Amino acid sequence: MALHDPPGRYVIEGGQPLVGSVRLSGAKNLANKLMIASLLASKPCTLQNVPEIGEIDIVSGIIQATGAHIERRAETLTIDPQSLNQFDLRQVTSNRIPILAAGPLLRKTGRAILPAPGGDRIGLRPIDFHLDALTKLGAHVEQQGRFYVLRADRLRGAMIQLPFPSVGATENVLLAATTAEGVTELRNGAIEPEILELVRFLCALGARIERTERTYVITGTRELGGADWTVMPDRIEAVSYIALALATRGEILIEQAGLAAIDAYRPFLDEIGANYELQGSDLRIRGNHRQLRATTITTGVHPGFLSDWQQPSAVVLVTATGDSTIHETVFEDRFGYVRDFRHMGAMIEVTSGCSPVPCRFDGKGHAHVATIHGPSQLHGTELELLDIRAGMAHLIAALAAQGTSVLHGIHHLDRGYGTGLQEKLTRLGASITRFEH
Ligand code: UD1
Repeated sequence: MALHDPPGRYVIEGGQPLVGSVRLSGAKNLANKLMIASLLASKPCTLQNVPEIGEIDIVSGIIQATGAHIERRAETLTIDPQSLNQFDLRQVTSNRIPILAAGPLLRKTGRAILPAPGGDRIGLRPIDFHLDALTKLGAHVEQQGRFYVLRADRLRGAMIQLPFPSVGATENVLLAATTAEGVTELRNGAIEPEILELVRFLCALGARIERTERTYVITGTRELGGADWTVMPDRIEAVSYIALALATRGEILIEQAGLAAIDAYRPFLDEIGANYELQGSDLRIRGNHRQLRATTITTGVHPGFLSDWQQPSAVVLVTATGDSTIHETVFEDRFGYVRDFRHMGAMIEVTSGCSPVPCRFDGKGHAHVATIHGPSQLHGTELELLDIRAGMAHLIAALAAQGTSVLHGIHHLDRGYGTGLQEKLTRLGASITRFEH
């Protein structure tokens, strides 16, 4: 356990097939952005189906730090931005979100002091695209140690071309340009389903945003109203349950699975020979029917294979027959979990040579390609969770393994999946006990 990590562990008795049905929570990577977008409004916004997870508590702290009012009842959040009067976010817990508050804070106060982004350690994760774009929109940006100080009386529309379709930078430009003066053209933007939903929400507030493929045209509007919005199901959580069913040889019905958003995952399921069935808006996945086959995954921007899907899928590939490859082309350092998998009995090598085709990390020495030799029977051991998605992969591996596993660093799971995760898994038949120390 790292020195300052909160204590707490899960003890898991693995090797049981998980069987039953599960309801997905609202998407973490949308709910947090809708909360920040609500700061642009001039009237209260109500968000439904907000997941009860640590990430939302962190973002609630950010909203409060701006002086806006936020109220929570179970999965419903109401944000009233009318009292927003603070621009200094130096004291908030930093994840990937405070930098996205640049646009709303500049719009409402003309200033913003933002901490450098924190979040999962899965690569360098610079924010140069964000800062360049905000500068193009007319913000004066200055770095002071770990903080960014921004000023702008009014942002002005600009032509912005992203070097890579970054999710966060696209969202930042959308949020900042929505109330800027004039027209912004954003080229090579990201088009993940959560971003398109954020755009719909902004339009419901009164924003004027049009999109053709990766180009967004945003015509600035001075005043935005309020809106009620229901957060779409979490497509990353959906894939976690698919992987759980396959890796434990169980059978799980995922209710309201948000099928369109996991469309890009279906080719993988077909290639490995997984048995699944679409039943209306539900997905039934059976891991107890067939031996799975090895395959090749190349992660990428949407509509490619989401980088957050590779970790749970790696557990599935450990149980599949043959040699599989995972080529991670979005983040350069996302295989930290492999060390623990090896301790559990998996045969995995991580190398830096691109395969099958070169990506932007080619020749840079990043260990971004994993080769998995399957099938292996995993066995339980002590595991150290590294980040949200790798943490979920550790959890799935522990549930698929024979014997007892002890998971440390479970605050990562609390941030991404909430303490309700244990209850969901228990209902599927998992043996999982939480200890706070
Ligand atoms: C978001 C998601 C994360 C997901 C990722 C890719 C949230 C809170 N997180 O992260 O779960 O894995 O999208 O789908 O929504 N980059 C730069 N400069 C920048 C910005 C990005 O070089 O200014 C690089 C990053 O280092 C990375 C790549 O672009 O290599 C993609 O990052 P990005 O799409 O911005 O990811 P996040 O928004 O941080």
